Amino acid sequence: MSALIALGNDAREDLALEELLRLTRRNRFLPIPPQERNFVGDGDFLAIGCEFLRHFVELGGLRPQHRVIEIGCGLGRMALPLTQFLEPPAGRYSGFDVVAEGIAWARENIASRYENFDFRHLDFRNQLYNPQGNLGADTGALPFEAARADFILMTSVVTHLDALDTAFYLRESARLLRPQGRLFVTAFVLDAVNRQLVSQRKSRPAFELGDGPAHFSDRAHPMAAVAFDFDWLLATAAAAGLHLARPVAFGHWSGRQAENFQDICVFSRSIAPGREATSQ
Ligand SMILES: C[S@@+](CC[C@H](N)C(=O)[O-])C[C@H]1O[C@@H](n2cnc3c(N)ncnc32)[C@H](O)[C@@H]1O
Repeated sequence: MSALIALGNDAREDLALEELLRLTRRNRFLPIPPQERNFVGDGDFLAIGCEFLRHFVELGGLRPQHRVIEIGCGLGRMALPLTQFLEPPAGRYSGFDVVAEGIAWARENIASRYENFDFRHLDFRNQLYNPQGNLGADTGALPFEAARADFILMTSVVTHLDALDTAFYLRESARLLRPQGRLFVTAFVLDAVNRQLVSQRKSRPAFELGDGPAHFSDRAHPMAAVAFDFDWLLATAAAAGLHLARPVAFGHWSGRQAENFQDICVFSRSIAPGREATSQ
């Protein structure tokens, strides 16, 4: 059991976010996957999760009592610091991913210790991560109740999806969010500035700019890194019933000056006037 949990709910509420993050980063009781099982990226697993927890709170408005759904949770890199932030019973987390081994690890090491956390494997196809998957964007709805989530997150997932899958998750997020809920997405977004930087070969990853809306860094492995036209992303979100809740926090992948790597988009549900009461 973590030192933070021993402090109890009230004490945790009183801790400023900085202190919570500082303690979480130093918490040696939190499980970290061994290098050979980690397929979600290089870097310090716990420090990256903590950096995103700060973004979830500061940019996305995440609160300890929120119900969270994570799309493409991998091994629980984002879930791990959330175990120290979400307060049960209201604060709850459900994550899913297409890689069964990642879900197995997260269940064994995270869900087994935190009963307000659960992880499931959904067999969606992805050319890179799950080429034999038997579900696709046309297969049906995600197995979560409509209008119950306060916060949905997708970190480094849209950067590995095609346009059909991205549109599917935007539609599903709009269905799953409560009226005041937020969708937090990281992506490589091609607005006019990023498009120019990419054309000047200043971005890492580099992208071949084609017809869009998706653009790939490696034609042989298109899902390795995908960028989307900003206009398409906004129009697809709008068609799903979502709009930007705040300006995009552009990242430094494109060559812009920024702290975060990928671009961060926070969406809200667009509720037709007068519909709030019935959509709860
Ligand atoms: C770079 S990893 C990021 C994992 C996690 N979001 C994180 O930040 O630690 C990309 C993740 O997207 C997942 N993924 C790929 N296609 C998916 C799909 N169609 N639906 C859900 N997850 C998917 C992969 O299995 C992988 O775990």
